[in-house]
Amino acid sequence: MMQTVLVINSKGGSGKTTIASNLASLFAASHLKTVLMDYDPQGSSLYWNSIRQQGNCPAIHLVDASHLKVGLTRTFQLRIPDDIERVVIDAPAGMCRKMLAEMVSKADVIVVPVLPSPIDIHASSEFIYELKLIINTCRYCDTALGIIANRARSDNGLYEPLKCFLEELDIPFITTLSDTDNYISAVEKGMGIHELKPQTVKLELSQWLPLVKWLADTRSVTTTLLSTGAVNHN
Ligand SMILES: Nc1ncnc2c1ncn2[C@@H]1O[C@H](COP(=O)(O)OP(=O)(O)O)[C@@H](O)[C@H]1O
Ligand SMILES: [Mg+2]
Repeated sequence: MMQTVLVINSKGGSGKTTIASNLASLFAASHLKTVLMDYDPQGSSLYWNSIRQQGNCPAIHLVDASHLKVGLTRTFQLRIPDDIERVVIDAPAGMCRKMLAEMVSKADVIVVPVLPSPIDIHASSEFIYELKLIINTCRYCDTALGIIANRARSDNGLYEPLKCFLEELDIPFITTLSDTDNYISAVEKGMGIHELKPQTVKLELSQWLPLVKWLADTRSVTTTLLSTGAVNHN
């Protein structure tokens, strides 16, 4: 069964491309047929994959979606091969509400990376609230929404207000990813951190584990709902 993961934040530089490309390579390395849709006009995921193709890592099917505007639904479906098991969407920063709603409606899971700065946390909180409203007004409210702290440097309690806010909205805080050079060296090689030597990425792997588990659990919830007919997924 296909699972679509949308990585999104209205702010640029929060780690959307980093997390989307790492997710895609993780899925591909797990022998899942994976599509990575790049909505960024700068084509960062496309660039990463062009490096990847020069090596021998498991292939990812890249879709350049940067030119697609509102009303992308049909095109979206046309571009995904039938046998694909995972779709990762690297969303652009700043999107009109209609486009946002359209993307949300296509996602099974939404991941929002948030940088450890008061300004980013404030802006992201508003964005997360908007996302939650959109999900709640969707016909079938089975889209899972989870938040990730990205590029954390120290445990200085910066995320505490965000965590309280998320608790109030009943949105899970999934994990904290540290700011490390391994993410940069992975990009340089067109790889994900899961494809680097395990002993060099112990910290990163341990921090990704809650996300991997959450995605797997979310999938089984959706699958269970589908198999019982509780959700008419389209
Ligand atoms: N956890 C991390 N550790 C180190 N560098 C990171 C991490 N996450 C992102 N970066 C770096 O931060 C910059 C912005 O990240 P990017 O994924 O391109 O953000 P976005 O796609 O949201 O604009 C990039 O240079 C990226 O390599
Ligand atoms: Mg990007």
